[in-house]
Amino acid sequence: MQLITLYGQASKKKWVIEVNDKASLDLTILEFLRSHNFPIASSCDGEKVCQLCTINEGLLACNVLVKDIITKYNSIITITYL
Ligand code: FES
Repeated sequence: MQLITLYGQASKKKWVIEVNDKASLDLTILEFLRSHNFPIASSCDGEKVCQLCTINEGLLACNVLVKDIITKYNSIITITYL
């Protein structure tokens, strides 16, 4: 099991989310956070157009996989408006 830490800069809150099945590793961050009921901004619904789903100061949540956040970004997600 992997853990992902999510920081909401607006709320100054932190959540630790379990990645408890292999299928979740291939979800986008947009899909993963929505499946955990986090309100991720989007008007294009994951089509990589609106750029509202920005995380980690420039990544698109709909264009980054859970496994990439774990391996390349130290399992940390930061969202400014959350
Ligand atoms: S949801 Fe629109 S760019 Fe990611």
